[in-house]
Amino acid sequence: MGSSNGRSLLRGLLIATLAFAAAPAMAEAEAPDEAKLELGRTVFLERAQPACGICHTLADAGTEGAIGPVLDDLRPTVEVVTRAVTQGIGPMRPYTDLSEEEIDALAHYVAHVTGAE
Ligand code: HEC
Repeated sequence: MGSSNGRSLLRGLLIATLAFAAAPAMAEAEAPDEAKLELGRTVFLERAQPACGICHTLADAGTEGAIGPVLDDLRPTVEVVTRAVTQGIGPMRPYTDLSEEEIDALAHYVAHVTGAE
């Protein structure tokens, strides 16, 4: 008892503190910035025509389309969204009117709010 336990408790606290301090910094490096997410949301809801929400349910955007898969369940990665949007898939037509920036923001937005990335 006594001093050796005290030291290991301190060491544990130190490790816990370091892990806690490091976590938000790592999360920030992964997450797309607010402006990009906001643009992505606008593309999802308005700029992409026909709007994604007509066919897809996405909780963050408040859409309840039921023709395509529920994106909240599918949790597509940035790559999967980009491919679907630029090349089309099944009944979903490719979007040729969106800029690269818009598609990039859209893909990051969908991947982020569904928890895929
Ligand atoms: C006309 C209806 C329709 C619209 C509009 C539409 N989709 Fe889809 N989408 C579908 C259908 C149907 C599928 C499933 C196709 C399949 O698996 O064959 C699909 C599949 C997907 C997938 C999964 C791709 C994969 O590889 O599994 C993603 C991601 C996706 N859509 C995102 C979007 C986004 C983002 C938009 C808006 C830019 C959009 N969709 C607009 C109907 C639509």
